Amino acid sequence: MRKIKLGLIGAGERGGNSYAPYALKYPNEVAFTCVAEPIDERRNAIAAQHHIPSEQCYPYGMDLLAAKPEVDGIIIATQDRQHYELAMEALAAGYHVLLEKPMAETLEKTRAIVAQAEKHQRLLIVCHVLRYTPFFSGMKKIIESGAIGKIQAVHHLENIGNFHFAHSYVRGNWHNTVESTPMIVAKCCHDMDILNFLIGKKCERLSSFGSLSYFTPENAPEGAAARCIECEHNKRCIFSAYNYLVPRGMYPGFKNIVLRTDDPQVFLEHLDQSPYSRCVFDGHNDACDRQAVMMEYEGGITATFTVSAFSNDISRKIKIMGSLGEIEGTLEENKFVVRDFGTGNETTHDLIAAKTLHSGGDEKIMECFCAALKDPAQALLQYSASQSLEGHVMAFEAEESRLHGGQVIDL
Ligand SMILES: NC(=O)c1ccc[n+]([C@@H]2O[C@H](COP(=O)([O-])OP(=O)(O)OC[C@H]3O[C@@H](n4cnc5c(N)ncnc54)[C@H](O)[C@@H]3O)[C@@H](O)[C@H]2O)c1
Repeated sequence: MRKIKLGLIGAGERGGNSYAPYALKYPNEVAFTCVAEPIDERRNAIAAQHHIPSEQCYPYGMDLLAAKPEVDGIIIATQDRQHYELAMEALAAGYHVLLEKPMAETLEKTRAIVAQAEKHQRLLIVCHVLRYTPFFSGMKKIIESGAIGKIQAVHHLENIGNFHFAHSYVRGNWHNTVESTPMIVAKCCHDMDILNFLIGKKCERLSSFGSLSYFTPENAPEGAAARCIECEHNKRCIFSAYNYLVPRGMYPGFKNIVLRTDDPQVFLEHLDQSPYSRCVFDGHNDACDRQAVMMEYEGGITATFTVSAFSNDISRKIKIMGSLGEIEGTLEENKFVVRDFGTGNETTHDLIAAKTLHSGGDEKIMECFCAALKDPAQALLQYSASQSLEGHVMAFEAEESRLHGGQVIDL
């Protein structure tokens, strides 16, 4: 079996910790043979784990592409605003690309990336990892079997989780929509994509409402300081940065995103200087903390979507209502039920999935990308980036609608 060779651009949380481990798990199938990453520590760690010679390690993605490495595919896992130029260049150079979502920070750039892939007849697979989970792919099979009849309506809920929201959208990478992308694009192009995948039809119009409501200076407790270390509330505040030290069941990866170290003293010194100990009420953030989208699909199918910071858990919950039955489940429980209106029977689908952040989706998308690279001409018939484009269009238009008071937008 031919071993697939990959190049990695961006060895952060996604590139370094979600996708690269696949090659360590399946070393006979795939190898990373070059890497680009400006942070020495991250680049060196990947080089050491994957035995990449120093002459194939680059600080920046453009350097890696300029060196024209002999690889089957390139993974681009840099931050949202660093995708466009790298993706355009990689596709023009003839590489097949696995690209992190959102593809780009504007709809125009997103469309241009998809057009570039089509022009050069290259594979462009967007990391919509939810499609690859046993949970959603299992639901899709039930829908296709006709078990619930024709889909009439869908209700989908994304619980970001209160501390997760504070971590990513108040303090972290996506706190400023001008520097990154609006929350509905960054977080929920996944959800728009999964609705399209399950419903299997085009969304014809939508409208959206939402705002930043809570993480604002008016809600700061009296006497709150700029940093948790100086703050009199730091033992009681649910957003205290010191909660990174006591995970309380929250995704343990948050601490590693602040800093990967086993030394508590080094961690604390870094935390106190980092954005992750800023007061969540200091007003430097603008990402919406709750947003709702109403959609109408072909044939009048309705869908509603709510995303919110205000939840205890980090979860996606969905209910699909058909003419003959319904499906309901929670992704993180890897379980859904199918109820048949005719018989009254309820069948539980208890899925065995990896207990990873995306319920097995990260590994599965790597498996699909590597399989596609073995026969790209055939894979091009199966994977179309224009599918991902539709979900992106919906997310960008939902933001437009929100900014215009919930105006209905025809797609
Ligand atoms: N598919 C998903 O479910 C999912 C989940 C979370 C994040 N994301 C997306 O993945 C992307 C990466 O997110 P992350 O959390 O890994 O971010 P990160 O900041 O941890 O990693 C990005 C890495 O890119 C590096 N980088 C910056 N400029 C570069 C360049 N020119 N060339 C090479 N490397 C460069 C950075 O130093 C950093 O290490 C983002 O677009 C994010 O929205 C996707």
